[in-house]
Amino acid sequence: MLAAVAHQPQLGDRKGFPIADISVSCAGGICGACRTRWIEGPPIHRDRALSPQERAHEGIVCVAECAGSRLVLDL
Ligand code: FES
Repeated sequence: MLAAVAHQPQLGDRKGFPIADISVSCAGGICGACRTRWIEGPPIHRDRALSPQERAHEGIVCVAECAGSRLVLDL
């Protein structure tokens, strides 16, 4: 698991994910390669890959951010 704190909300930097070792392809929120389940939120979804139903438990971490004090991912 990984917790992202609010003062460092960006989960990926589009150049190699310094916070977590997650596969990346487009780095733009389109392909879904970095799709990851989240356990505790709230996330900010900025992708074009997931439906509202999928966003209830998953995130596209190359473009997602943390809206609260922390976001816990199931890695
Ligand atoms: S790497 Fe393509 S959506 Fe994140």
